[in-house]
Amino acid sequence: MLTDSAIAHLRDDLVNAGYRLAEVTGRLGEAAVAGLARNSAIPARRGLAGQTDPQADLIRLWLLADAVPLDRARRALGAIEELLAAGLLIGNGDQVRATVELKPYGDDELSAWICSDPTPLDGRSVPPRHDFVLGASPASTTLAQLIPRDHVETVLDLGTGCGIQALHLAEHVERIVATDLNPRALQLATITLGLAQVEADLRLGSLYEPVAAERFDLIVTNPPYVISPPARSELVYREGRQVSDGLMRTVVTEAVEHLNPDGTLIVLGNWALTDQPWEERLSEWIAPTGCDALVLQREVLDPYEYVELWLADAGLDSTTEYAQRYTEWLDYFDDCGIRRIGMGWLALRASGREHPQVRIEDWPHAVHQPVGAAIAGHFAGVAAAQLSDEQLLARRWRRRPGVIQETIGVPGEADPQHLVLRQQYGLGRATEPGTAVAAVFGACDGELPLSVLIDAVGSLLGVEEIPLRAQTLTLLRRLISDGYLSGA
Ligand SMILES: C[S@@+](CC[C@H](N)C(=O)[O-])C[C@H]1O[C@@H](n2cnc3c(N)ncnc32)[C@H](O)[C@@H]1O
Repeated sequence: MLTDSAIAHLRDDLVNAGYRLAEVTGRLGEAAVAGLARNSAIPARRGLAGQTDPQADLIRLWLLADAVPLDRARRALGAIEELLAAGLLIGNGDQVRATVELKPYGDDELSAWICSDPTPLDGRSVPPRHDFVLGASPASTTLAQLIPRDHVETVLDLGTGCGIQALHLAEHVERIVATDLNPRALQLATITLGLAQVEADLRLGSLYEPVAAERFDLIVTNPPYVISPPARSELVYREGRQVSDGLMRTVVTEAVEHLNPDGTLIVLGNWALTDQPWEERLSEWIAPTGCDALVLQREVLDPYEYVELWLADAGLDSTTEYAQRYTEWLDYFDDCGIRRIGMGWLALRASGREHPQVRIEDWPHAVHQPVGAAIAGHFAGVAAAQLSDEQLLARRWRRRPGVIQETIGVPGEADPQHLVLRQQYGLGRATEPGTAVAAVFGACDGELPLSVLIDAVGSLLGVEEIPLRAQTLTLLRRLISDGYLSGA
């Protein structure tokens, strides 16, 4: 593979040719970029027709998987000999083409490239190699948005793949350990991270094996969560060899051995829905960890949708094997008692609490990404909601910006029929607290203790103070743990 100096050389070539996200987007235009997001290279290819400058050739080589004349590739890439020697480029007569994809990637803070196996483009549906390394998938970007971005010392990026999570983690973590079972993933992640000048300790091995006795402030993963017959589990990027959702279960149950006090695990994955209520089944995974938890089930698929989705992903949808593989998969679900499949997000916090707070819910509603801050806020809120009544009453609470109040009712009537507080951030939660508690909530601007606000609202609305106090305290704990309020 590439040496550090060859990666640095390649980086210079990419920068000098203007092969960065903003420049490439500007060159191709939004419609062609949107085409590529749908795996269609034809709009970009047409846009570049007849253009032979280094930027156009790098787009062809690294993004469109097209061959480029060797002399032009030499002009665009000072590092060409190293790339040929490492097998990242292969020559064919006077043409050269890339064996990997190098996709410009970034946001306001990050300018990078993702090195992965090439995305099949233009309707080509080829079964991927067993050690295929996926690029930035929708699951990768969703996971990236679930991760709290508070500054921490150490992180484990379990199943790093192309290295995309580590790229983002480098912005707020001192030391990154990134693991993968697939040696090819580590090779490509080395290039992704090297090009971004990110340092990470890359280790080969399964699940927590490479970090035997180590603990971290944060563990993040979208493990190979596809539930499929183990004998057919050929694609390392998406399926393990454990029965049913056993791999997800192991990720969750063993995490606690590797979390520092107050450490957080963030997982995106799938779980089996059996005849046992799913909340009960997942709480059996979580209970032995002793952690606080938040589990959000975002979507449920029936077995047919699920199998069709993943057979198509494996490029098997128009092959002669299709019907047989489909049937085998359904038989496997029957044998395991899998009725449907849940897809969602799971977060653990090693709070060390005597009575851990575990919240497991269906959450199919639209959310405001990134929700990482809302997940961190949930755990902070759980801790704050444990305060005694006296402590709650003495605090000066501040309502979070972005909560709006919606009222529906008969014009002119004092009490609306519905009064909803709705978050326009994070998980977009909504609640109907009633007029009096909503008035107390509205007064929470961090200036006065809660007890004073309750008294004032009580006398303003002519509500008895003691019941209002009890009612407010009960609801307030929920508003705090759901992230409507922060302790000023
Ligand atoms: C769904 S991909 C996620 C890759 C990357 N984290 C991302 O966000 O795109 C799952 C990754 O886990 C790796 N993997 C598979 N089995 C594993 C295991 N038992 N232990 C560690 N990693 C594994 C795969 O090679 C793959 O890179």
